[in-house]
Amino acid sequence: MTITIRTVAGTEAMALVPALADILAGCVNAGASVGFWKPMSAERAHAFWQEVMAALEPQRRVLLVAEQAGHVVGTVQVVPAPQQNQPHRGDITKMLVHPAAHGQGIGLQLLTAAETAARAIGLSLLILDTGAGTAGERLYTKGGWTRLGTIPRYALHDDLSPVDSVFFYKAL
Ligand SMILES: CC(C)(COP(=O)(O)OP(=O)(O)OC[C@H]1O[C@@H](n2cnc3c(N)ncnc32)[C@H](O)[C@@H]1OP(=O)(O)O)[C@@H](O)C(=O)NCCC(=O)NCCS
Repeated sequence: MTITIRTVAGTEAMALVPALADILAGCVNAGASVGFWKPMSAERAHAFWQEVMAALEPQRRVLLVAEQAGHVVGTVQVVPAPQQNQPHRGDITKMLVHPAAHGQGIGLQLLTAAETAARAIGLSLLILDTGAGTAGERLYTKGGWTRLGTIPRYALHDDLSPVDSVFFYKAL
C-alpha cells in the first residue's frame, strides 16, 4: 500500500495528537525503549504529543508523519541543536512506526524524508541514539548512518534491567 510522508503544519498539529499518541503508546507497550516505560497510558501519550505540538516551529522542530490509506502510521522529528555554535547540527528523535505497520519499509522512508527535511532547513549533520540490538539499530545502519559506539546502561526497562544505547551520526 502506498505510503505518503509529509511535514505537519502548525495549524493541523493538535488534530494529529490522538493518532500519534496511539502510535507512541503502541510502540512503548510493545516494548520499545523510546523514553517511557510500559504500560503507557493514553493520557501520558497525549500529554507528550501536546508538548511537541506546542513547540512546532520550523527552526526549532520539524515533525513528519507517514500515512497509509489516510491513516497516520509513523512519525519522526528533526530537532535543530539549540547551541549557537552548532547551527548546522540537528537530532533525529521519536522515530516511531505503529507496531501493526512494521516491516513495510516505512521506517526507512521516514528516515530518508527526515534527512531531506533537515537539509531543507540548512542542517548538514544529524545525530541520534537508539536501543542496542533493536530494529532501530538495524534501520539506521541500513540508512547509511555511522555507528559511533554503545553506552552501557543508558536507560532502564520497566523491570529496571539496563538498556544499552547505540549512537549514530550522518553527515548530509
Ligand atoms: C525502528 C522502527 C521505526 C522501524 O520501522 P519499520 O517501518 O518497521 O522499518 P522498516 O520496515 O523500514 O524496516 C524494518 C524491517 O522490515 C524489513 N522490510 C522493509 N520493507 C519490507 C517489506 N516490503 N516487506 C518485508 N519486510 C520489509 C526491513 O528489511 C527491516 O528488516 P530488519 O529489521 O531485519 O533490518 C520500528 O521498528 C519502531 O517504530 N520501533 C519502535 C520504536 C523505536 O524503537 N524507534 C527507534 C527509536 S530511535
